[in-house]
Amino acid sequence: MHARTLFRDGETLTVLDQTGLPHELRSCRLASLADAAHAIRSMQVRGAPLIGATAAGGVALALRVDASDEALAQAITTLASTRPTAVNLHWALDRMRARLAPLAPAERVSAAWAEFEAICEEDVATNAAIGQSLMPVFEALHAAHPERPLRVMTHCNAGWLATLGHGTALSPVYAAQRAGLPVDVWVSETRPRNQGLLTAWELREAAIPHRLIADNAAGLLLARGEVDLVVTGADRVAANGDTANKVGTYLKALAAKDNDVPFYIAAPGSTIDFDCPNGAAIPIEDRGGEEVRVIHGLAGAEPASLAIATPETDTANPAFDVTPARLITGIATERGLVPPTRLAGLFAEVRR
Ligand code: MRU
Repeated sequence: MHARTLFRDGETLTVLDQTGLPHELRSCRLASLADAAHAIRSMQVRGAPLIGATAAGGVALALRVDASDEALAQAITTLASTRPTAVNLHWALDRMRARLAPLAPAERVSAAWAEFEAICEEDVATNAAIGQSLMPVFEALHAAHPERPLRVMTHCNAGWLATLGHGTALSPVYAAQRAGLPVDVWVSETRPRNQGLLTAWELREAAIPHRLIADNAAGLLLARGEVDLVVTGADRVAANGDTANKVGTYLKALAAKDNDVPFYIAAPGSTIDFDCPNGAAIPIEDRGGEEVRVIHGLAGAEPASLAIATPETDTANPAFDVTPARLITGIATERGLVPPTRLAGLFAEVRR
């Protein structure tokens, strides 16, 4: 049993502080709206579903101090400005607003906690269902070569650390392990924040075979036929199926297409933005040059930072990229697996 990424602890929230991982397992307590906003912005919590759930908890923390209409609106505005790309943040805040705004202020705090708990619980069930949506693909590809493990490539971290449980892209990997289907996972390090190290840590904890690779090795492995499928998570899927995910995803999709390797996105309905017509309309976060110039790790046994470029070095740090729908074989959701162009049919009641 692994640690939990986020839970209510009395009148506060406890989160697993992902800025310490994989070297240091520590948690931190969020007691205020400012704490919740800081946790999202600084990536103590990260991954689209976990960002959304933390924002929902942040609303409850804010209302404990002041449950007026103005305070509710202010809390939502503050949290909505923390990170721009993952639409789950707005999905969760819209859901909190819809639930809480019609209530009298005196009823809002308990209702906010209840809605937060519901979002967390639903996320676990949703992600388990996403895993099941991809299992037939895993089974069919493995059946073609039963003599070897299924070779999955992923990018960033879309495992349980990025959610309330199971993960999205890693959910079918965990489901495969439970079903006795052998998997071997290529994990790209995911510069500059190195979320691949989180994936490698998760998979090691779960005793799932995997290999950490430099991001730039992915093309060669795909070209050599050493990958059976690529599965990544998503931060925002546009109405036409174009998908924003961690920067570097697009390059993997291109190389997968060129080598006839299927490329799947695993994402919950809360990551689909039917108001966003296509990938060009998805806001891409720029996280600033420090993440490119300075890397973090261990010096001996101690956490340490190392500047790999001078402070004067000009940088650019787009944190996400957009994979066009034409490069995506299918999108696995809690409602099933469909080609990107058929998403609207699956979510007819949310589509506008
Ligand atoms: O910047 P991050 O670490 O929050 O980015 C995370 C990703 O891009 C994930 O792939 C995505 O949120 C899906 S998480 C289930």
